[in-house]
Formats: sequence, C-alpha cells, structure tokens
Amino acid sequence: MASATLLKSSFLPKRSEWHAAARKSSNPQPVAVSFTVRAGAYSDELVKTAKTIASPGRGILAMDESNATCGKRLASIGLENTEANRQAYRTLLVSAPGLGQYISGAILFEETLYQSTTDGKKMVDVLVEQKIAPGIKVDKGLVPLTGSNDESWCQGLDGLASRCAAYYQQGARFAKWRTVVSIPNGPSALAVKEAAWGLARYAAIAQDNGLVPIVEPEILLDGEHGIDRTFEVAQKVWAEVFFYLAENNVMFEGILLKPSMVTPGAECKEKATPEQVADYTLKLLHRRVPSAVPGIMFLSGGQSEVEATLNLNAMNQSPNPWHVSFSYARALQNTCLKTWGGRPENVKAAQDVLLVRAKANSLAQLGKYSAEGEAAEAKEGMYVKNYSY
Ligand code: 13P
Repeated sequence: MASATLLKSSFLPKRSEWHAAARKSSNPQPVAVSFTVRAGAYSDELVKTAKTIASPGRGILAMDESNATCGKRLASIGLENTEANRQAYRTLLVSAPGLGQYISGAILFEETLYQSTTDGKKMVDVLVEQKIAPGIKVDKGLVPLTGSNDESWCQGLDGLASRCAAYYQQGARFAKWRTVVSIPNGPSALAVKEAAWGLARYAAIAQDNGLVPIVEPEILLDGEHGIDRTFEVAQKVWAEVFFYLAENNVMFEGILLKPSMVTPGAECKEKATPEQVADYTLKLLHRRVPSAVPGIMFLSGGQSEVEATLNLNAMNQSPNPWHVSFSYARALQNTCLKTWGGRPENVKAAQDVLLVRAKANSLAQLGKYSAEGEAAEAKEGMYVKNYSY
C-alpha cells in the first residue's frame, strides 16, 4: 500500500486533495493562481501498477463478460449458464500454465473476483502467482440515453467509491469502464459528452481508491462508413475524453486506455489493410494522447483473432511513445472456448490454444508477429451488431 507522498513536480497529477486557491479579485489584470499540490494516497502505486501492466511483450486478457454475456458464450458451445460452468471456464483461463509470460493483467467480472477455481484456490491468487494483475469491470452496463439519437450511456457511478475500495481489498489493482459511441446514430454531441464525463468521473474515483482505471470509449464497428469517418469521430471522442479527464484531475501516468482501432465500419465495402489501420490509429493517438499515458491496450471489437493481431503488429513496427498492446476478449478467447467445448478432457488443448493466441499478441506487441501457419478458424470475424458486454 502506498503512502501519501507530497509531489513537487508541477506536471504531476492533481488529485482529490488538490486545493485550488484561486483568488477572486476585482482587478481586471490576470492574477496568479496558487495550488497546493498533494498526490493522492495511491499515486506511486498507481504509476507502478500501470507500468507493470504496460510491460514489453505483455497485454491484458479481458475475461470480464457479465453473467448474461458469459451465458451467450457458453450457449455457443451447448452449455448451460450455471455458476459451475462459468467457474470451470474461468478456471481454465486463469490457470493456463505460463500465461503470465504474455499476459500482465486479467479483467474479471465481479463474480470471478470473489470466486474460487474448481480446485478451491482463489482465482485472484492463481493470477497473482502467474504474475498477472487482477482487474475488475466496474461499470453497470449501458442503458438508453434519453434525449439522444437512440444512443446509450453507461451506468455505475453510484456507490462506485465504496465498491472500488472493496475490490482493492479483494485484490483488484485496476478497473475497467466500457462505454460506447455509435457512428451510425450520429454520434450526437450529447452522447459523446456524456460518455467522456462518465469515464472521467469513474477514472478519478478509481484512482482515489487505488485502482488504475482503464478508460474505454468503444467506438462501435457498426455501420457502412469508411475509415475517414471513424477517424473523424475518434478525434472528437478522444478530445472530449482528455478534456474531462484533465478537468477531473485524473493523473495521466496512472491510467490505461482501451480504444477501438480506427477501421472502416463493419458493413463498409472497402476494407483496410493492417498498414492502413495502423497509420490512421497511430495518427489519432499522436494527435490526442499525451505521452504521460503509459499504455494503449486495444479492444478487438469483433475483428477476427488474426486480424486483431496483424493490426497490432503493424502498429508496433516503429517505436511509440506509449506501450501499444492488447486487451482482447473475443480475439483471445474464441478458439479456446470452441476447443474446450465444455469437456474436461479438452482443457489442456484449450489452454494450449489460449497460449498460442497470447503469444501471437505478445509478438505483435513487439512488432515481430507473422500470420504464417494460422488456422482458418482464427481468421473468422466475430462482429455482432450492438454487441453488449
Ligand atoms: P473485445 O476484445 O471482445 O472487443 O472485448 C472488449 C472489452 O471491452 C472486454 O473488456
């Protein structure tokens, strides 16, 4: 646990204990504003956690499907959505031997944070033994945004501080909040502002309770638009997100981003090559993301396993100011889940497949991946319209 540290550098974070002593004056001349800059109790630890997650050749395994979404996954292999089946699948994932070589963090759903493996160890302890930081999904999902163009907003701020404190006690060290922006529905200025503000409030609260916030405004793949339109919307969204992160005194050194890659819409006739996706996405990041941010951990968003890895690899062909890596759910788990099929005798084969995908993305993080020899199954897209998490 970090101790409260008085930080002297002026660029270092404003956090909950900042006291702005702006003097009100009738003097029309600009007046000096003095700040007492005090770091939050967890500042040092947040920086360390974020750096560890953003370490070379490693990325995040997103396994935080809500029980409803996990049920859909299990149904796809003919299994019932019972706690025992969810536990069996999650045990398979966290205990894959050697996973920590490629995976630095695992995002869990609340049930898993408090769950034991099938052989009675805490899931969190198994992760820590593997040198994988446990993370926790803290948003409460999407609901319709009244007054918008059929768009949604993300719930979860009520009681968030006490939930984060309890999750920290339980072993979580980072958090995730996923909100979405739809391009075909506008997006409206209202929806973008709401998404950005919610992310910023969440990030400030998570940091105040020792959790590194993953900031995830997912720009959905839905739509027929071309890559230029995605780029335009992404620029707007990220400008707004960083504006509100700064307004909420979020410490940039202690966050991680989880953006969508800049691609054409799923229904667009013109496809983009990995080089085009990398060019557009890196241009966006350079324009919008300060180098103080340690890591950019992309979501896969319905791309095929191989496509997501190729795109990541293309982004790592030359050095970047941030660690550019992955935080995939579908693009790490898809073939693994199918290989398992709910059968105990397939656990090892399924873990091997997970390790193949994790290693491929580890190589892509280092810019050294080749798709040679990849199975046809790993090239199948997984896009679903209006995907929920
Ligand atoms: P996908 O990689 O399946 O898009 O998952 C994204 C996500 O937000 C999981 O935490």
